[in-house]
This record gives sequence, structure tokens and C-alpha cells, in this order.
Amino acid sequence: MEKIFYPLTQRRLRADAHIRELTASVKLSHKCFIQPLFIDESIHMPRNVNGLPGIQVDTIHSVLETISDCILNGINKFLLFPVPAYKTDLNFDFSFAVSVVKNIKEFFGDEVWMAADLCLCSYTTHGHCGILNDDHSQLVNHKTVEVLTKYAVQLANAGVNCIAPSDMMDGRIAAIRSVLDALGKDHVTIMSYAAKFSSQFYGPFRDACHSAPGSHGIKNRKTYQLSPLNINDALASTLRDEKEGADILMIKPAALYTDVIARLKQQTLKPLAAYHVSGEYAAIEALAEKDLVNREAAHLEVWTALTRAGADIIISYAAKNAKEWIDKMEY
Ligand code: PBG
Repeated sequence: MEKIFYPLTQRRLRADAHIRELTASVKLSHKCFIQPLFIDESIHMPRNVNGLPGIQVDTIHSVLETISDCILNGINKFLLFPVPAYKTDLNFDFSFAVSVVKNIKEFFGDEVWMAADLCLCSYTTHGHCGILNDDHSQLVNHKTVEVLTKYAVQLANAGVNCIAPSDMMDGRIAAIRSVLDALGKDHVTIMSYAAKFSSQFYGPFRDACHSAPGSHGIKNRKTYQLSPLNINDALASTLRDEKEGADILMIKPAALYTDVIARLKQQTLKPLAAYHVSGEYAAIEALAEKDLVNREAAHLEVWTALTRAGADIIISYAAKNAKEWIDKMEY
């Protein structure tokens, strides 16, 4: 007798929301989210950011309210971007960033976890992430690392939990780690912007931080940020940062680089952070505004993709909504 042929069905696992929820291989949690915060010394009232609905640039005072709102929504981890009022190219003054950190620490104590972005792009007149040579044709690596290390020490003394260097100079992780350790700051974490690609998708951020590279000298960041064409460099640079002492390794942008997240997951035991950057966030918001996507569902789909690829931590401008959206997520 001939055998009856049953098709190999997979659809039973998709039959209803209960079984889809039960068998999901990705579980999201708001506990893994970090909310970026912009704080500008030159403003007296919070201002909106072009392209980033729902996000504002805060004053040193209004940021306390923004943080309180996040806490009410279950988010207590932050990445700070302090923007100084005055630009310079050599004698940098980090006192505003220090005051921001101290203020937040004084107000919230250990209720919040604070990482601070460490870079010079919002400090320099030319908008590059480091110090330029005389004819503005090159970034001077070691001098930049020296300045960043001093900045890191000031932030650590002010009470930051984590330093997040985003400049992409060589050797900065080792330099910062050894100086922090020598000063008894061995408990301060380093989250390295390790696989940080040269990208179009930082546009709204640069607008918020006044940090776009200017018109004189080198015009873009391609001599220090990674080429999207070179995944080997991304892997090598990230593993180098791990060896130098980075505790958390970041991939940025996130959604366009899930292949990098997945490859790194196989090669390191360190936690991976995916930064869904300003332009990626803005793209979803622009679609949502035109009613072409469901805003919440679109962000949840991106977060799912990042987690599936291997991200342990997600940095998102919509982090403050993560708890609410995840709790009522439709399976
Ligand atoms: C500073 C920095 C940038 C971002 C984070 N830190 C911009 C850049 O490198 O030009 C981008 C974040 C975002 O777009 O959300 N170097």
C-alpha cells in the first residue's frame, strides 16, 4: 500500500497569538535599553531636534525632568551628550559636561546608570572628533587620545558610571583604562564605540549637537570611522578594543549592520550594544508620520532584529517607550 504523504507543516507554530508568544525565540525587555540625552549649554529652554520627534535637547536643569519621566516609564540607564556653548581647537574646557554629570548624580544618586559619550566633535570649531594638524589634512591621533583621557578622568571624578569613547582614534581604550585604574577608578566601565561606521545616518544627531564636520580641511570622517565596505576592519577593530580593556562593545549604526552584530557574537563573550542611530530612528518616524508604518510596531520589529542578531543592549531614542510598547506588544 502506498504511504500517505503529510506535508511538513510549520504553520502550527503560527496558529494563534498564544503559541506565537510561547515559542518566540526572541524575548525583549526594557531592562536592556539605554536612552540617549542631549544637554546644550547655550540654551535656556529645551528645544526640538530636526527629524527626531519626541526628542528634545535639554538644558542642565530640564534634563532632570526628562530623566524623571524616563524613570516613571521604567528606564533608568542613559547615554549623555553634553554640548558646550563655546567651540575651540586646543584648550578644551570640559566643565559643562562635568556639571551635567554632577547635577544628575546629586539629584538621582544610584537610581540611574549614566554613561557619557567621550568625543571632541561638539567641542571643535571644525566638527571633527579629534585635534587636526596645522593644515587640517589629518587628525593627530596621540594628542587626541591624551585630551580624551583627561576628559575621561574628569567625567569619572564627577561620578559617571561608564565612559563611552566615540572618537575612533587608535589606542584610546588602553590609554583611558590604564589612567582610570591608576586613579582608583577601576569600577568605571568602558563602553567602546567599537564598530562605528562612517554613515549617512548620523545627520539628525549632528544637527542636535552642532557637530557636523565643517568646510575647511578634511570634509568627512572616513579616515577614522569604519568603511561600510570593510567588515574585516570592523571585526578587527572591535576585537582590538576588547583586548585593550573595553567592557561593552558597541555596533553603530545598528539595523543596517546586523551582519556585524551576528559575526561579533560568535567571536567575543563581551556584551554587545547596538545603537539604533538618529537617522535610523528618524526614518521610522518619517514613515509613521505619513501613516505608512505603525510607529510602535516598526520600532519593536527593529529591536527584535537587533536582539535576534545578538545585541544584549539597545540604545534607542525611543527607549523611554520600550516598557510600555513591549508590555502590550502583539504577538
Ligand atoms: C560623536 C557621535 C556621533 C554619534 C554618536 N556619537 C556622530 C558622529 O560620529 O558624527 C551619532 C549618534 C546618532 O546619530 O544617533 N562622534
